[in-house]
Amino acid sequence: MTEPQRRLTIAMNGVTGRMGYRQHLLRSVLAIRADGGLELPDGSRVQVEPVLVGRNAEKLAAIAQQHDVAGWSVDLDAVLADPAVDVYFDAQVTDRRVAATKKALAAGKHVYMEKPTAETFDAAVDLASVADQAGVTVGVVHDKLFLPGLVKLRRLVDQGFFGRILSLRGEFGYWVFDGEVQPAQRPSWNYRLEDGGSITIDMFCHWNYVLESLLGPVRTVAATVRTHLAERWDERGRPYPATADDAAYGTFEMDAGVVAQINSSWCVRVHRDELVEFQIDGTEGSAVAGLTRCVAQHGAQTPKPLWDPDVPTSERFRDQWLDVPANASLGNGFRTQWEQFLQDVLAGRPHRYDLWSGARGVQLAELGLESARSGRRLAVPEVRR
Ligand SMILES: NC(=O)c1ccc[n+]([C@@H]2O[C@H](COP(=O)([O-])OP(=O)(O)OC[C@H]3O[C@@H](n4cnc5c(N)ncnc54)[C@H](O)[C@@H]3O)[C@@H](O)[C@H]2O)c1
Repeated sequence: MTEPQRRLTIAMNGVTGRMGYRQHLLRSVLAIRADGGLELPDGSRVQVEPVLVGRNAEKLAAIAQQHDVAGWSVDLDAVLADPAVDVYFDAQVTDRRVAATKKALAAGKHVYMEKPTAETFDAAVDLASVADQAGVTVGVVHDKLFLPGLVKLRRLVDQGFFGRILSLRGEFGYWVFDGEVQPAQRPSWNYRLEDGGSITIDMFCHWNYVLESLLGPVRTVAATVRTHLAERWDERGRPYPATADDAAYGTFEMDAGVVAQINSSWCVRVHRDELVEFQIDGTEGSAVAGLTRCVAQHGAQTPKPLWDPDVPTSERFRDQWLDVPANASLGNGFRTQWEQFLQDVLAGRPHRYDLWSGARGVQLAELGLESARSGRRLAVPEVRR
């Protein structure tokens, strides 16, 4: 393959972390590079080249060497001052996001980032306003929308399969070990409120854009949150008090009386087909989507179960659903969104999933926590630019 002439240089901060390394560096940017770059609508190609940024020189050098990346640095300011750098990407811990992305915007870079965009709604709105003024392309990860299961579910919504949509129920989570005997499979900061942890902050950002995309804007939220495990053990095996909520039980209302209930928990053992599942019920049909699969049941195929507690259930309910085909190749969702974002950068246009959408996610998380504190259902005010 001949090397494309044009090149986008992407400064990637937080690539020693779980998301930054696996999803963004390996599965997205390096995967695009390995395939010879992005293909533009006119058939030409633009290659991508990461520059790794972080705090730990040793770790960065090791990743750079392992993956044949020429550039790495512990000096963010110097990287941002380099005119050869086109895009800044941020997957650091959340509480460092605003300061770094503002610097990148001030340096005139296009900016793409992990969610949440900020720790508070006010900070998220401020960042979105600063980005509007910067005149560059900005975007925030909306990975759940690119999951094959959700792509299929969305297609069913678009084609009117459900009739009048009544409700959505979502179940997300798995058992995250407390770290005492078996190491935890998520970073310990996730369980410390003072370090930006909280499953409500983490997941309601996602649920906002999922609900918005499938059912329309969220109008009210009522949440109950818990810190089920009060003590956990960190990466070095030291016990620490878990100050952040590790389960959030949310009810959301959209227009026309549509109700969504979504449970998010790090303290649940999985008895499901996938780690996240959403069921939509409508007057004409229902569907259940996971990360990859989606099954549907039309009104005409709906069986008529009868309640009889004296007789063991003989119906195989799961067999009564039909698979929804992909009818396209649906690759890694993080990579798909990266490709769309970079195409937007090259075309000089806004990215669809911008920092205002990011701010609405932070707003829903903040109101969810406030609802849990006050025990009240809260209205979700419209976010205006
Ligand atoms: N889109 C998703 O589904 C998804 C999933 C998980 C996490 N995230 C988000 O991605 C971001 C990173 O999460 P992660 O799970 O990769 O975390 P992680 O702890 O594995 O990685 C954090 C990164 O930030 C860096 N960092 C900078 N300052 C730090 C500090 N003071 N303390 C600790 N680390 C520091 C670390 O070196 C590392 O590179 C978070 O904002 C998180 O909310 C998104």
